[in-house]
Amino acid sequence: MTHASSPSARPLRVTRAQAPLSGSIRVPGDKSISHRALMFASLARGETHITGLLEGEDVLRTAAAMRALGAQVAQHAPGDWRVSGLGIGKLREPEDVLDMGNSGTAARLLSGILASHGMVSVMTGDASLRRRPMKRVMDPLAGTGATFMAREGGRLPMAIHGLADPKPLDYRLPVASAQVKSAVLLAGLNAQGQTRVEEPVATRDHTENMLRHFGAHVKVEETPQGGRVILLQGRPDLVARDVVVPGDPSSAAFPIVAALLVPGADITISTVGLNPLRTGLFITLQEMGAQLEVTNIRTEGGELVGDLHVRASSLKGVTVPADRAPSMIDEYPILAVAAAHAAGVSRFCGVEELRVKESDRLAATVALLENNGVKTAVEGDDLVVYGTGNAIPGGGVVQTHMDHRLAMSASVLGLVAQNPVEIDDTAFIDTSFPGYLQLMNSLGAGFAL
Ligand code: S3P
Repeated sequence: MTHASSPSARPLRVTRAQAPLSGSIRVPGDKSISHRALMFASLARGETHITGLLEGEDVLRTAAAMRALGAQVAQHAPGDWRVSGLGIGKLREPEDVLDMGNSGTAARLLSGILASHGMVSVMTGDASLRRRPMKRVMDPLAGTGATFMAREGGRLPMAIHGLADPKPLDYRLPVASAQVKSAVLLAGLNAQGQTRVEEPVATRDHTENMLRHFGAHVKVEETPQGGRVILLQGRPDLVARDVVVPGDPSSAAFPIVAALLVPGADITISTVGLNPLRTGLFITLQEMGAQLEVTNIRTEGGELVGDLHVRASSLKGVTVPADRAPSMIDEYPILAVAAAHAAGVSRFCGVEELRVKESDRLAATVALLENNGVKTAVEGDDLVVYGTGNAIPGGGVVQTHMDHRLAMSASVLGLVAQNPVEIDDTAFIDTSFPGYLQLMNSLGAGFAL
């Protein structure tokens, strides 16, 4: 049974926006940085103070897991958390199964920690996460000497027998994945000697940045082919450091595209993370003709942030090169909505990784558009969207497959479609963007809650 048919499903019927979106908002904290802040703080000695933590369900799963491993993790005020860590190699065996809910990032990164502690642990997740591949972390982490037992095809639940003295890894990523890179580096923290990871294309570097922030020695070298080699010296003394979490650019993507498409819209989003390995969507939208201005660029808590000013724009089709995918991997469903509204054809090259996200996002994005009267094609690993030039028919029923980003993308499509759009379930939005529908309503979206 899918969640959508369960009593906790929250269906939504979205009708065309009646007025321009306007106003100024902040989006919740960055999901990637929030997971990492909780994990690194739990591995550091002393008390870390985190501000702006995302309190979405995914991150709360990480908080619960770190508590189950012996760290003290407590909320003091909304977004304001204190974590007292135990030090590298000092986490304790959890008494029960660790349930990572819907979160691939939590599951994959935590695997690196569990494999490098002398303990037995069992991890599971919801129906979406239990379908996702864990072999991509099990394979490299087995090199530490840890052993894994998982279901057919490397699916959760999975048992991990970790080691107190793991071997350092030297691993070249076969796919561009920040989660796999981070799992290897997290395992390397408790390994004697140097851990080396090579990535074919640079992926988000929040792990590297935060490791340095907490006092580890991390060296990064660019390869002539455009990739990176990351070198980590094992057994560093990680010391508690305060963390300021910026607004999540992947969450900002939804109000941004809504404001670009709703006639007359004019909004500002303040303090959005602008790490260059996360801003592929902003570049792509600007190439499509978006009036998207970044102002007040500054550094907060070691990450680049800025304010975004977005005005309704006439967009044209775009070709997105494959090597841009890692910098906008979570943004393709909402970009597909922008492309559906744009004039002309768009092509997103090399998006095969979408098949293994919270849902098969390639198939689900195609269904989102096709069921609402927009023509698409999948050619090899490319997604082609035939833009309607501001004439999305709508009128479709959208299956979100337990995928928050599908639900939010569908809601934006509904705001600009000619006929109402039915979304089967918006409950999963809470995994990454609690309060999304209300925040959009504060701009005038008029979602019927
Ligand atoms: C993330 C990496 C990406 C992204 C996910 C968050 C991270 O996954 O899709 O939402 O925090 O490292 P992959 O590393 O699998 O591409």
